[in-house]
Amino acid sequence: KARKPLVVGNWKMNGDLIANERLFTALRSFIDRELLARVDVAVCPPFPYLGQAAAWMGDAGIAWGAQDVAAHENGAFTGEVSAAMVSDLGCRWAIVGHSERRTLFGEADETVVVKAQRALEHDVGVIVCVGETLEEREQDRAEEVLARQVGALASLAGVAVERFVLAYEPVWAIGTGRTATPEQAQSMHEFIRGRLAAAGFADSARVRLLYGGSVKPANAASLFGMADIDGGLIGGAALVADEFGAICRSAA
Ligand code: G3H
Repeated sequence: KARKPLVVGNWKMNGDLIANERLFTALRSFIDRELLARVDVAVCPPFPYLGQAAAWMGDAGIAWGAQDVAAHENGAFTGEVSAAMVSDLGCRWAIVGHSERRTLFGEADETVVVKAQRALEHDVGVIVCVGETLEEREQDRAEEVLARQVGALASLAGVAVERFVLAYEPVWAIGTGRTATPEQAQSMHEFIRGRLAAAGFADSARVRLLYGGSVKPANAASLFGMADIDGGLIGGAALVADEFGAICRSAA
């Protein structure tokens, strides 16, 4: 494939100083420079541990990123974490618009795009998540939902392709053990790439599209083997070093 694969571990709200240290140490040994020459790897721990990630991953060639950023630049927004702050901590990436943010915290498409803009202004790349819920899929509305979510990103069309990644996560496959089949995922990825082009992304063929939703060592290779799947956004398996390492190797 022309696009370098990317595998991102989204730790969600998990971890502690001691467990993280173990995970970072193991990741350093499982993911070596030879692998990193073929696959980009990033880990996204919770905000309080980004400094710890920087200390452990800084010289290992594994990037780290934030799970979200604030839509506001700075000021009286108690509890929020700005793009400038995560940039300060060396984050190469910020995940925005994860389905848990959209469904549990009511984030709308408009908020997602503003958050992405904030991150990009601070030289933090974005991993924008899109995906339909089970209900939407059952109503045969998956493509309509994706078209809306991707269409909302039109103002980002001029962004350097190295800094912009899209993750397709069918919400019904997240943490459920129910994965989209490689063919199902591929057909959605192809659709998404088409919508990116329609939204003005001249470089849509070069944008990396990740699949997320119950990716495990056993299914990673068949997913990553599909033409438009350029890696994964990994939840549960990202907390288990040898599983995450095996998934990264499947992308090479
Ligand atoms: O961000 C990661 C996704 O939500 C996938 O999570 O691998 O636990 O299904 P999962």
